[in-house]
Amino acid sequence: MLMSGKATKKIIIANWKMNPLTQKDAEKLFNAVVKQARFKRAEVVICLPYIFLDKLKKLSRKIYLGAQDAFWGDTGAFTGEVSAAMLEEMGVEYVILGHSERRTLGETNSLINKKLKASISAGLLPILCVGEDSRGADHAYFAVVRKQLQECLKGIPKVLISKIIIAYEPVWALSTTVGRHDATPADSLEMALFIRKILSDMSSQKVAKKVRIIYGGSVNDRDAEDFIKFGGVVGLLVGKASLDAKKFGNIINAAESNY
Ligand code: PGA
Repeated sequence: MLMSGKATKKIIIANWKMNPLTQKDAEKLFNAVVKQARFKRAEVVICLPYIFLDKLKKLSRKIYLGAQDAFWGDTGAFTGEVSAAMLEEMGVEYVILGHSERRTLGETNSLINKKLKASISAGLLPILCVGEDSRGADHAYFAVVRKQLQECLKGIPKVLISKIIIAYEPVWALSTTVGRHDATPADSLEMALFIRKILSDMSSQKVAKKVRIIYGGSVNDRDAEDFIKFGGVVGLLVGKASLDAKKFGNIINAAESNY
């Protein structure tokens, strides 16, 4: 099983969401990313639709594969679900949990909590997404993120919290949000510090220090380097730009250049 490595190791994660349409296009995009990037020290993960996982895992060992959700039961009468245990059996290493698009579909913090626990015990490395829908002058968004963290991580042993990657994704900055606007590396830095403080209160300073915090929200090949340098994060979760091999390759290379 892949280990998370040093806290300073950079990690670039693609979230392909429900793309592309065909297996052929998935292979083409995957192979193009392999050609485009340097793959020296940064960890590169692509989180893709379940149906492409089996084929793509055979194409390259440079890229780790992840799913975009995982159910909490191992096996059983849960029509339509795919479990964390099944994914692990298949050779998947990472799983995105609690993405805002899934929260919009009705996923709650307590459901995410069950999925997190199942994913950790199956041996997957979860990427937990947190982030507020909007920001007001009253700074209530800190309380939103605190609640997400407290409820999603409830009952998870301290030592296991260090295995979870926390992705701060302000929903107002996602490329698909209507009326969106850009978040800045300063926004990311401020929240990364806050997240680490919450984690420290919930576990210990030592554990909180080990947790990898990343940023996501319309990251592209023009601002990736700034987020990595000044955003207080060790990596990025990339949606739209990850569907363009050249852009995603440049984002990986930006991480490679910042050690
Ligand atoms: P975006 O998506 O980069 O297209 O904003 C990020 C995400 O939703 O994970």
